[in-house]
Amino acid sequence: MNTTPKSHLYRLLLIIIVFLVAFITIKEWAAPASWNYQGWYRGDALTDVAAQPLIYGGNQSCQSCHPAAIKKLRKFTHRALSCESCHGALADHVRLKKKIAAAVVDKTRPQCLNCHSEQINRPKGFPMYSVKGEIGKRVRKHGDEGLKASCLKCHDAHDPTP
Ligand code: HEC
Ligand code: HEC
Ligand code: HEC
Ligand code: HEC
Repeated sequence: MNTTPKSHLYRLLLIIIVFLVAFITIKEWAAPASWNYQGWYRGDALTDVAAQPLIYGGNQSCQSCHPAAIKKLRKFTHRALSCESCHGALADHVRLKKKIAAAVVDKTRPQCLNCHSEQINRPKGFPMYSVKGEIGKRVRKHGDEGLKASCLKCHDAHDPTP
């Protein structure tokens, strides 16, 4: 083969062209048709997601049947919580405006401790359940009894004000 001072450059160019052609061919074959619709994502994903059945309704969805619970929750410290974070998804309880199954009513300590166990990573000033009061210094009255008693013995879940 004739070699000139530039022949290594031609070989390099050839390799680049082969890679470019391979890249474009594979990309055309593998990318979904709606790819790059207003950005680097699959445009059809929007209709796919919108077609999924609703599982959570949000607090508004409980309003028509449980106005008293909504009103009470709004008044107190748990106002920011979603009903469904404690009672499970709307879709498991109501379908076509009819009750189809009981909603979750979990009265156990772990339900409350999910959010209130004493942990150093909680936001500053977040009310924590503490027996010894090592971190959650705001709590003083959780003595030995607090170790096993149901939280609901002393706190109302919708109005937890001690
Ligand atoms: C922090 C968790 C929590 C949140 C948030 C919560 N609940 Fe409850 N809820 C409970 C617990 C625990 C009970 C059982 C109370 C008992 O028996 O002492 C209960 C009881 C109920 C009951 C049956 C008894 C009653 O009081 O009528 C209904 C209905 C209810 N909740 C609806 C709601 C609705 C609607 C929301 C949202 C506005 C909501 N709850 C938010 C924990 C919660
Ligand atoms: C179409 C009406 C309807 C809607 C909407 C509805 N519920 Fe209920 N719910 C009922 C009925 C009926 C009962 C049984 C009677 C009662 O306790 O008031 C009930 C009972 C409950 C109970 C007590 C446990 C049980 O199942 O008996 C809880 C907790 C509850 N609902 C939570 C919720 C939450 C949270 C929402 C919103 C995500 C909600 N419900 C939306 C009709 C509804
Ligand atoms: C999904 C998370 C979550 C769950 C579950 C939860 N809480 Fe809370 N709780 C909160 C938040 C958020 C606040 C408000 C924190 C703040 O004021 O910064 C709060 C506040 C409180 C307070 C302070 C009330 C006051 O007026 O000072 C108590 C007591 C409390 N919760 C008890 C409970 C009990 C008992 C349960 C179980 C029935 C429970 N919590 C379940 C998130 C939760
Ligand atoms: C024997 C009654 C009793 C039991 C059981 C109990 N508490 Fe309390 N709790 C109190 C009292 C009283 C206070 C107020 C203490 C204080 O401010 O010194 C309080 C305060 C709190 C606070 C802090 C409120 C704040 O403003 O800082 C949280 C969070 C809390 N309790 C969560 C729980 C959880 C979660 C459970 C169950 C694991 C539970 N409590 C069980 C009586 C009880």
